[in-house]
Amino acid sequence: MVKVKILPDKENASEEVAQMMHDLIVEKPNAVIGVATGSTPELAYDLLAEKIKENNTDVSQLQFFALDEYIALPWDHPESYHAVINRTVTVPLGVDPSQVHVPEAPDDATEGPVRYYDEQIEAAGGIDLQLLGIGRNGHIGFNEPGTPFESPTHVGRLTEMTRQDNSRFFDSVDEVPPLAVTQGIGTILKSRKAILMAFGEAKADAIRDSLAEPPAEERPGSGLQLHSDCVFYLDEAAAAKVDCEPLKVD
Ligand code: GLP
Repeated sequence: MVKVKILPDKENASEEVAQMMHDLIVEKPNAVIGVATGSTPELAYDLLAEKIKENNTDVSQLQFFALDEYIALPWDHPESYHAVINRTVTVPLGVDPSQVHVPEAPDDATEGPVRYYDEQIEAAGGIDLQLLGIGRNGHIGFNEPGTPFESPTHVGRLTEMTRQDNSRFFDSVDEVPPLAVTQGIGTILKSRKAILMAFGEAKADAIRDSLAEPPAEERPGSGLQLHSDCVFYLDEAAAAKVDCEPLKVD
């Protein structure tokens, strides 16, 4: 089931998410946290880093699992998700790199399941809190439209829209890798709690489609309706086209 929380802006929503993450870390110092890339969660990570500093919070036992990684992009490329997660999560939160897992994405990987990552997540005790953003076409992680809801971590092919959207981080769209390893929707659905953040009018269609019933694999975000505890944190622009009566939380 998806609950929806609509806040005036990204700053308010990011503050709530950062506070929730900090509360979890204090309550469960060995929590396992799933982290997303993209611009959406960056402010929440910054605010969480401030809270950790202010409270001198113990982060030494946490474990982090990134959602995805491009194939055939060297780890030292600034837009590889190894580099992005290091820059936005590992360094600011002050955790040791050994606590942070990002899928390996060998150059010769072919489309299909990549099970070792799900096994690593299970061995860590499963994800307590999974953070998610969403693409304009509704993708979560790199689960593009048509991905089975039960999919494990796998190699998937990016759509042209996703490559175009992500080309803003590269010199040209041709540099955006066509393949990526991503936690599957099935992997994401196993997390104990999931938080999806979406801000701005560009995400309004994807949010409307994610909440439209019944869930359908053509709309990856709608798979989250099958999650036992998922909350969408939206600003008003991203929530503008929601045409069902969402279950709002205060
Ligand atoms: C990428 C990531 C997704 C992310 C999406 C949206 O494709 N793989 O995890 O949700 O971008 O990015 P942004 O938050 O920058 O809009």
